[in-house]
Amino acid sequence: MYTLILSIILMTTTKITSYTLPILPYPLTALEPFISEATLRNHHGKHFAAYVNNLNRLVPGSEYEGLLVEEIVQQAADGPIYNNAGQVLNHRLYFEQFVPVSQYKAPGKRLVNAINYHFSSMDAFKRQMTEAAMSVFGSGWVWLAVDTEGRLQIVKEAGGGNPWRRGLIPLLGIDCWEHSWYLDYAFDKIAHFDELWNIINWEVIESRLPL
Ligand SMILES: [Fe+2]
Repeated sequence: MYTLILSIILMTTTKITSYTLPILPYPLTALEPFISEATLRNHHGKHFAAYVNNLNRLVPGSEYEGLLVEEIVQQAADGPIYNNAGQVLNHRLYFEQFVPVSQYKAPGKRLVNAINYHFSSMDAFKRQMTEAAMSVFGSGWVWLAVDTEGRLQIVKEAGGGNPWRRGLIPLLGIDCWEHSWYLDYAFDKIAHFDELWNIINWEVIESRLPL
């Protein structure tokens, strides 16, 4: 609930003048061997940066000027502004959710209990996320999201979609675009999805849960 309230406060008080590329919270080599330095450099420094630049080019003068990316994702019609806002939000959440391998910690009790309640076990949850990611045809995302009643669910999104658009809070995202895995894993996409669990920052995921 805290996250939701904070989001509402931000939405009613913040006026955005431009969108910025967040700095990675770890070094470029920190996620190896699961995400290589080259992939991270391209994914964050080229792809994510391009979405930010596109948004800064498209939004000024539009009806969405001054809005947070969350607001654009919720309000914008399908098209370039919505697509790029979605990808800015998606990638901000995505890069925040990882931790260097050496600092990995198991998920906390609150999150484990919520996942066990909704998916029966952590292993079953991971398996369902991977299956959902493998079933995305073309580019898209898979999210663990939570609704206003605290119910966890796995949500598939095409293109640059984000659960915010349907009133859900995104907790953990799997980027199914080829740029996230092809350089490191080539045709072995499922290995990438399976190995992401080694670098999830569960404290960040739990902090996104409403209180
Ligand atoms: Fe991506």
